[in-house]
Amino acid sequence: MRWLENAVLKGLHKLDAETAHRMTVLALKSGLLPGGGADVDPRLSVKLWDLTFPNPLGMAAGFDKNGEVPDALLNLGFGFTEVGSVTPRPQPGNPKPRVFRLPGDQGVINRYGFNNEGHEALRRRLNARARLTGIVGINVGANKDAEDRVADYVAGIYEFADMASYFTVNISSPNTPGLRDLQARSALAELLTGVITARDECTRKLGRHVPVLLKIAPDVADEDLNDIVEEVLAKNVEGLIVSNTTIDREGLSGAGPASEAGGLSGRPLFRKSTIMLARARKLAGPDLPIIGVGGIDSAETAWIKITAGADLLQLYSSLVFKGPALVEEIVTGLAAKLDEHGLGSLREARDVNVEAWASEAA
Ligand SMILES: Cc1cc2nc3c(=O)[nH]c(=O)nc-3n(C[C@H](O)[C@H](O)[C@H](O)COP(=O)(O)O)c2cc1C
Repeated sequence: MRWLENAVLKGLHKLDAETAHRMTVLALKSGLLPGGGADVDPRLSVKLWDLTFPNPLGMAAGFDKNGEVPDALLNLGFGFTEVGSVTPRPQPGNPKPRVFRLPGDQGVINRYGFNNEGHEALRRRLNARARLTGIVGINVGANKDAEDRVADYVAGIYEFADMASYFTVNISSPNTPGLRDLQARSALAELLTGVITARDECTRKLGRHVPVLLKIAPDVADEDLNDIVEEVLAKNVEGLIVSNTTIDREGLSGAGPASEAGGLSGRPLFRKSTIMLARARKLAGPDLPIIGVGGIDSAETAWIKITAGADLLQLYSSLVFKGPALVEEIVTGLAAKLDEHGLGSLREARDVNVEAWASEAA
């Protein structure tokens, strides 16, 4: 089957990146892609909050913005998936072209700008899921023209509190002007107070507690990271996702559309996001769950993220270059890593390289 997948990938790369993405979603919808992950090593399961993740590898936000294929993604072997970012009202995003592959660097630049069909459409799709098992997080955002951004995030909490496995509050997309300003301390405090108050009200009303995670950019300065982690702990936010795409272009070969505006992801993001992850882990201490994301493209890079402080992992860009067989390759590769190191769980490996990564020059 590998040859067939390679042929399909080659064909997709002849198309522009956005069309290729759309075709992939359609293929997943129609069940054309093979399933995986049938027999997952039980040592890979991760228990966090009230959730048991069958394995630590998740599909990152942005691939399935409108909740069209959560079950197909889980079927590929992902331990969880995250839909969104979703905004209250539908919005078209930025003009095309707005996503670019950098094959020489194994990177992607996107400036989609939260194109999505809005709360109502996502709700309808998730309601219609035939199978209600599996962990599906919902990543909430704010409309570009929102007058009150905090109100948009809060609306996302009220809308989906009865169905989300967890919430991600995404304040780190570089493609909505001013959005990342919410990472500044006073704005963040106000946002987190609003979101957590709404979530707590939903917990009381629905008898269902949905953990809230904050997703941050890899470009925040050290002092700001310190403020962010302090606010997260003070407001009892249940976890961090480190990180979103970067506006940095360091380390790129310069080939291809490297100078396009937008957020850079994939292999060129690995080092920066892993340093940020280790620093966040050091600041947060051992108890705050952290999802490590940015440039994971192999079992080796997945393992490095865990040793740099991650409880769970997500990926997106490497799928563009390596195809869906990568999911199973990473999951089985992580089990082999446990064997190699004589460990019974990923938690035993977590943090062993936090100091080394945190002290790397960013
Ligand atoms: C095309 C594209 C669209 C994305 N859209 C979103 C989004 O809507 N919300 C979000 O939180 N992150 C979004 N991301 C960021 C990813 O979730 C992830 O944090 C980032 O790409 C780093 O992981 P990777 O190097 O494995 O791709 C997007 C990434 C890409 C490549």
